[in-house]
Amino acid sequence: MKTHTTVYGLRHAIARNRAQGQRICFVPTMGNLHEGHLSLVKEAKLRGECVVVSIFVNPLQFGAGEDLDCYPRTLAADKEKLFAEGTCYLFAPTVDEMYPGGTGPQSQLSVPDITETLCGASRPGHFTGVATVVTKLFNIVQPDVAIFGKKDFQQLQVIRKMVDDMCMPVEVVGVDTHRAEDGLALSSRNGFLSDDERAIAPRLHQILQEYREAIANGFDNYAELERHAIRDLSAAGFEPDYFNICDAATLRAVTAKTEDIVILVAARLGSTRLIDNVTLILAPHGDCRMLG
Ligand code: PAF
Repeated sequence: MKTHTTVYGLRHAIARNRAQGQRICFVPTMGNLHEGHLSLVKEAKLRGECVVVSIFVNPLQFGAGEDLDCYPRTLAADKEKLFAEGTCYLFAPTVDEMYPGGTGPQSQLSVPDITETLCGASRPGHFTGVATVVTKLFNIVQPDVAIFGKKDFQQLQVIRKMVDDMCMPVEVVGVDTHRAEDGLALSSRNGFLSDDERAIAPRLHQILQEYREAIANGFDNYAELERHAIRDLSAAGFEPDYFNICDAATLRAVTAKTEDIVILVAARLGSTRLIDNVTLILAPHGDCRMLG
């Protein structure tokens, strides 16, 4: 594995792999890699010969008062894990390399509609920051395939829409959420949880599963279910941001046309904001199939 810190160096290296007919599979990350990230790298390896991983904590997607400064940075340990997974190139640029003129004058890409709800409503500008950096990374790496985790369900849908709207020649692949044994979705932010908070945290996924079960059993008063779930989350010790039962394609309210449902939650435990989701397929005759 070779680490590149410059756009020029990475582009030249990848060009040689592309010239040999290799497929370029790209996994963008912000580092502090855990098994969830490594499952994305494994998926990338299945889909092509040249796996490129980026580690860049992107200031443009953090709002004022968010955790940019204390976001965990563990480059040496990350490198070992990526090497062990057979990564071809690690791209680990500085902020100056990505935003040579600073973030202020940087052109930005905004993805309307789908970014206006859920995390987009609670974190104004976040998805513009994500879409902008992912566009830049796609232009630098020019991957055939890019792999993202389904834990960030809204992010995945935003990237899919961006790629579609902007005719980017990249296949976007979503990988199922990697969970601890007790069901907690793996996240770099889990490391911020105290022991007491870590003991409560798996309730997030349990509550999602309970409400998915209720929908699978035929309850379809979604507004009522959402209100109940917010109460359950508060009772468990969370400070809920949202608990929404949505059409998985639009991330808006479920309609008669909805085929797939996603239940998305964001909630704080102390100062840590956790997100998670579960999906279910609504079959034509009201039967449901529960997924991850
Ligand atoms: O999901 C993440 O880690 C980030 O949002 C991403 C996609 C690497 C963009 O900075």
